[in-house]
Amino acid sequence: MTLRLAILGFGTVGQGFVEILLRKREFLAREFGAVFSVVAIADLAKGSLYHPDGLDLGAVLNALKTTGDLSHYPDVPGLVRGLDSLATIRTTTADTIIEATFTNVEDGQPGLDHCREALTLGKNVVTTNKGPIALKLQELQSLAHQSGVRILYEGTVMSGTPVIRLAATALAGNRIEGVRGILNGTSNYILTRMQEGSTFRDALAEAQKLGYAEADPTNDVDGYDAQYKVMILAQALFGAEILRQDVACTGIRSITREAVQEALREGGRYKLVASLERTVDGLRGRVQPEILPEEDPLAGISGATNALTFRGDLSGSVTVVGAGAGRVETGYALLADCLSLIRGQI
Ligand code: HSE
Repeated sequence: MTLRLAILGFGTVGQGFVEILLRKREFLAREFGAVFSVVAIADLAKGSLYHPDGLDLGAVLNALKTTGDLSHYPDVPGLVRGLDSLATIRTTTADTIIEATFTNVEDGQPGLDHCREALTLGKNVVTTNKGPIALKLQELQSLAHQSGVRILYEGTVMSGTPVIRLAATALAGNRIEGVRGILNGTSNYILTRMQEGSTFRDALAEAQKLGYAEADPTNDVDGYDAQYKVMILAQALFGAEILRQDVACTGIRSITREAVQEALREGGRYKLVASLERTVDGLRGRVQPEILPEEDPLAGISGATNALTFRGDLSGSVTVVGAGAGRVETGYALLADCLSLIRGQI
């Protein structure tokens, strides 16, 4: 089966995805009968390309390497340049939109309109963009249902480490009573480095340099990135839409190196814990720093690694540990969702 893709947003994640498609082309065709034709790429800063017969991905990456944008892609017959994101959704032959534009934690735009438009026009959406999913997943799923297409978003939480699909497949049949996790790599990196003697400021600068932090790191250190992931998990795992103001959120900004080290001397580890619990009053979501005892499965998660513990009524506690960000890891989440589209699986 062939998927005809348009990629919106060609930053680290979009590029990581294209690199994977190039590297794995033969393997994907042989193992899954999956052929990926990227017919369009649109990026506000790098420009846009559309060719109904598919773009040459090697030439795309070469153009990017040469000038940092898409202007040096060869002018082959039939190539169209300059379509914006909405025109790319509306006028190209893509059947699946890869929405990888930046996360906006206020109103989800422009990603939200991209998703709405694509689904209304009967195109699948695969996204790593947390904004539209945290705010409007149920609306988007209902649009997808009306149009007979799908919206998949594994990469919005823990990048390519499968948590959403795991709950829907391998953990099916359980009643999930609650989840607790480390869902923001930047804050966990900072807390780990403070445990090792670094200051908050130095550790944050390192996390930015290593590419873990959001464009505005306030979203990481004040807990908003984890808060959005809690909103996504509420819908994905519990079928419940919760509002941002209903997820109590405290970040790590006020935690000092001294406090982290004192906790360590007493056998505890400071972690920014994101959680969802079923209570008699409904689902309760929360993001807050906690001092965890050494034996807690989340206590030993260090650096930018993420983890999520599911508490199922039948499975008991199951903890998944893995990457929460990264070029290849998040690009892989897009691939896993595309394969699920091709194979007609969850
Ligand atoms: N800034 C995020 C983090 C990236 O640090 O976890 C992945 O959402």
